[in-house]
Amino acid sequence: MPATDLALEHLDETLAIPLAPRTSARSALVRSLSSLIDQLEARERDASGHACDVARLAVELASGLDLPPSDVRRIQLGALVHDVGKLAVPRAILAKPGPLCEAEWELMRLHPTAGEQFLGPVFDSRTALTDACMETVRAIVRWHHERWDGRGYPDV
Ligand SMILES: [Fe+2]
Repeated sequence: MPATDLALEHLDETLAIPLAPRTSARSALVRSLSSLIDQLEARERDASGHACDVARLAVELASGLDLPPSDVRRIQLGALVHDVGKLAVPRAILAKPGPLCEAEWELMRLHPTAGEQFLGPVFDSRTALTDACMETVRAIVRWHHERWDGRGYPDV
């Protein structure tokens, strides 16, 4: 089983993310998210396992901050899909072995908003996640490259 499936299985069964158990909506959502992550990691150079690694670190951080378990579950899901907008970035850029030029960076910097747009239909077509969970995931996807000093992206 791919690592992403394992992470989503873990998320679903041991952390009990707010999905109605054993429903087709839950299964479809897990399959959709797993597929998005697998496609992304197959396209990007050196990205294999990145989503699961980030999710694991996010859970450790959120747990260390003593956040409520429901918040930890939302953060884990957001971390798993945080880079899904890179599906909108050309493969030649994602797989480029050297540094990116400014034009390539401009495209790369679009991936948080692209990810938010990708997830909209996925979430809108499912009723398995709570509104609070969907909002947390959307926020993580959109703002995961923002910085405290304001030099991040996509928002200025
Ligand atoms: Fe990113």
